[in-house]
Amino acid sequence: MEKNIRAFIAFELPTDITWLAADLQNRLKDQGLKLRWVRPQNMHLTLKFLGDVGADRIGAITAAMKAIAQGVPPMALTVQGMGVFPGMRKPRVVWIGVGGATDLLERAHRGVDERLALLGFQREDRPFKAHLTLARINQPVDARRLLETIQMEGGYGARPFQANEMVLFQSVLKPQGPTYTPLVRAVLKGTV
Ligand code: 2AM
Repeated sequence: MEKNIRAFIAFELPTDITWLAADLQNRLKDQGLKLRWVRPQNMHLTLKFLGDVGADRIGAITAAMKAIAQGVPPMALTVQGMGVFPGMRKPRVVWIGVGGATDLLERAHRGVDERLALLGFQREDRPFKAHLTLARINQPVDARRLLETIQMEGGYGARPFQANEMVLFQSVLKPQGPTYTPLVRAVLKGTV
């Protein structure tokens, strides 16, 4: 049996959002921007990256997720705008922003962070910035063109989507890109 699992907790996205992300990627590609694109079907909204976890701890993580889910209600989120991490001076990641019920999203993130800290996972030392990663930047890029393009294309609209369950994903890194497999689902059952 596998000893360690690379894992993270996230919300899945409906297909219309992944289509929209693919469309935005095409718009950036059309501007000649050469980035390392995240496969749209791989996109998700990360709540917490756990790193390598002993397979024998999945039970405890599952119990924690189910407990957190009791206190977090299903929420309506939107995607909005685009930006870069950590900043325009040295962009590393191009992201899509998240809006809507961000107070509930914060609650979900805080719940995960706090409860998993009890299991020994390090708490986040940076503020949570909800995002969907669209691309990573692994070679020099024309920063002005990137900035202009994300400003020009950032005004798209999208229908809200529901986040109804937290998912524990296994991530397997492969030369052709990572594969993410859902291992555990915790349906959100809290009240607002
Ligand atoms: P992000 O792309 O939304 O920023 C699975 O690897 C996910 O965990 C990634 O998509 C990434 O989310 C998130 N993650 C956060 N910290 C990470 C780290 N140190 N290494 C790899 N992934 C990390």
